[in-house]
Amino acid sequence: MIQKNSPLPIYYQLEEAIKEAIQNQELTPGRMIPSEREYAEKYGISRMTVRQALSNLVNDGFLYRQRGKGTFVAHQKIEQPLQGLTSFSEDMRSRGLEPSTRVISFKVVPASHDLASKLEVEAGTSLFELKRIRLADQLPMAYEMLYISKEVAPDLTEEIAQSSIYEYVENKLGLKIQHGRQVLEASIARRTEAEMLQVEEGAPVLMIERRSTLESNKPLEVVKSVYRADRYKFTIDMERFS
Ligand code: GLP
Repeated sequence: MIQKNSPLPIYYQLEEAIKEAIQNQELTPGRMIPSEREYAEKYGISRMTVRQALSNLVNDGFLYRQRGKGTFVAHQKIEQPLQGLTSFSEDMRSRGLEPSTRVISFKVVPASHDLASKLEVEAGTSLFELKRIRLADQLPMAYEMLYISKEVAPDLTEEIAQSSIYEYVENKLGLKIQHGRQVLEASIARRTEAEMLQVEEGAPVLMIERRSTLESNKPLEVVKSVYRADRYKFTIDMERFS
């Protein structure tokens, strides 16, 4: 409820009311919220005040705008610890979300010099190149481009690529994935990435490049992932040097 004689500014009270509606699921993620005019009429306040409250909620990530469509309730960000070497499928399942994958392309390509040195193979060696959209409960979370040498995974198929690669490597190939190194960078979605992730071109994304190795020290994969910055946040635990 909005109290006009309260010392709290009206826009702030409206923000709190909308946050509460999100918290108690009156307003659910992905749903369009009422228009500025409707809020103004409902509470007998000015549209300017409503606009200010909604802008603040957009800036704070509670709501998002889609040009020409309206303002919607944002999905809660997934919090991903950076310590463990886990797979996308494991990450989603551990949160009670259902992982799924849309394979965009599945090809064999010759290794470029850069990939060859990262995967410790000769330049020109056949690599599988997999482009996949990774979804959680049907929502696109990340777009991934994975390279794995044919030597390591000779019988990889598109069907396997539709589910978990780590499960295939560990359970079918019987290999142990031991170590991974990741580089994280902030970026914006380019046209293709935006299409894949269903965001606007230029939306913020997190780029992650992972190179993982097997127990034998042989590199397993080089993966470039583009994560939606509005769906993901990463956490890391730190110890102070003593
Ligand atoms: C994450 C990593 C990728 C890795 C993938 C494996 O998304 N960023 O480097 O290839 O997990 O996931 P899955 O086993 O579900 O295919």
